[in-house]
Amino acid sequence: MDDSHNPAASTVAVIGLGKIGLPLAALFARNGYHVIGADIDPTAVAAVNQGTSHIDNEPGLANLITAARHANTLAATTNTAEAVAQADIIVVIVPVLTDDQNKIDYRSIDQAVKTIAQGLQKDSLVIFETTLPPGDTENRFGKMIEETSGWQPGKDVDLAYSPERVYANQIIHDLEHYPKVIGGINDRSRKRAAAFYQKALGCPLIDVRSLETAEFAKIAECVYRDVNIALANELAMFADRLDVHMPEVLQASNSQPYAHIHSPGIGVGGHCIPVYPYFFINQGLNTGLVPLSRQVNDGMANYAINKIEKQIGALDDKTILILGLSYRGDVKEPAKSTALLLIEELKNKGAHPFVHDPLFSDEDILNCEATPLTLNSQACADIDGVILQAFHKQYSELDFSQFPNCQIVLDGRNQLNKQDITRHGITYAGIGNTGGDGFDTHPYG
Ligand SMILES: NC(=O)c1ccc[n+]([C@@H]2O[C@H](COP(=O)([O-])OP(=O)(O)OC[C@H]3O[C@@H](n4cnc5c(N)ncnc54)[C@H](O)[C@@H]3O)[C@@H](O)[C@H]2O)c1
Repeated sequence: MDDSHNPAASTVAVIGLGKIGLPLAALFARNGYHVIGADIDPTAVAAVNQGTSHIDNEPGLANLITAARHANTLAATTNTAEAVAQADIIVVIVPVLTDDQNKIDYRSIDQAVKTIAQGLQKDSLVIFETTLPPGDTENRFGKMIEETSGWQPGKDVDLAYSPERVYANQIIHDLEHYPKVIGGINDRSRKRAAAFYQKALGCPLIDVRSLETAEFAKIAECVYRDVNIALANELAMFADRLDVHMPEVLQASNSQPYAHIHSPGIGVGGHCIPVYPYFFINQGLNTGLVPLSRQVNDGMANYAINKIEKQIGALDDKTILILGLSYRGDVKEPAKSTALLLIEELKNKGAHPFVHDPLFSDEDILNCEATPLTLNSQACADIDGVILQAFHKQYSELDFSQFPNCQIVLDGRNQLNKQDITRHGITYAGIGNTGGDGFDTHPYG
């Protein structure tokens, strides 16, 4: 094995063909690699082999898969060990999750790594892209690889870590443009991974000195977002007390070049921001801003419900509609969505939570223990209050006359038009938005 390894000759195995693994596999295939994707889900594997994408709403992805199948540069299998045995570069993108107590659940990735090790060939390069607690690439998975395969990372096989930092709905674009942070168990591993990504993605590269630095950098990004959103939320709650209009504050404050106050909102959801701070918290960063920010952001659902209660009284037997099951607008992703916190809290108060989300089926909503609601149906007449949780495009045109008994709309994303709501005799409330009266803020000059 030497530094002059020729990336053009490589076969890449991508382990995990989910929302991130599939776009990665498709781009690697387009950019000159022979790619074998492996997944335990036979439906995902069959879709790829038929030249289709099982991941929706990802611009450009379906076309890349079809083209790669035509060019015979991409295939998929449920046999991970066999895929790895044919590859000299293995990219691991199987998730690490957290359980209800926010403890780390390694079951999927442990199983994947053990199977990888069974097929691993000497001189291969294994790159982990899954977000991991610092130290895990080497100390957990490097050891696992050595125990099962007998190959020592850094000697017999190369080992690198390069986190995924993309944003759903723009993954192909982000993979090609966001800088890729790369750490290696040694220089050779890092350089080999860098040469691979330069050709396979063509994005800018940032080399860091160790696996742990790269692992830490990804979690630090998520913590940064979580803490700053918590700060915005705290300021917004204070603005509510003082009856100050927070959107105007943001525009005014952020005109100073060093101020980057985030937008407040009803909560933080998705796979990343509400999850990865716990990787640090579980490793000992368990006092101070990081755990406090988790508390503040997860407390926003309750804060919003208290605002509704103040307006319409006790929620016992009241019917409250949540707009948006997804954690954010125009993305189909229910993981850690604030909608789930709202449903739980409304039920605790004896209310009946209804949910509308154009991206989910009635069955999906029932599985989240809420009643699905069709807009413009008769059931809308029973709604006592509405909470905008995820701002899907279609909600900008919502006709509030369909809710004749609704007393309050809680705009959890500060996105709705207040006048469209109040002209139907419905009270409007935002997060840090009580003073919002249509005053048109504009910079002079
Ligand atoms: N989704 C995002 O927006 C996002 C953003 C940045 C980083 N990431 C990182 O990407 C990782 C993967 O996220 P995702 O959204 O692609 O997850 P996902 O749930 O969409 O896909 C994971 C895939 O792994 C497969 N899998 C599970 N166990 C396996 C095993 N033992 N062997 C082979 N395949 C297995 C699953 O069947 C699934 O297809 C996350 O853990 C995170 O670290 C995700």
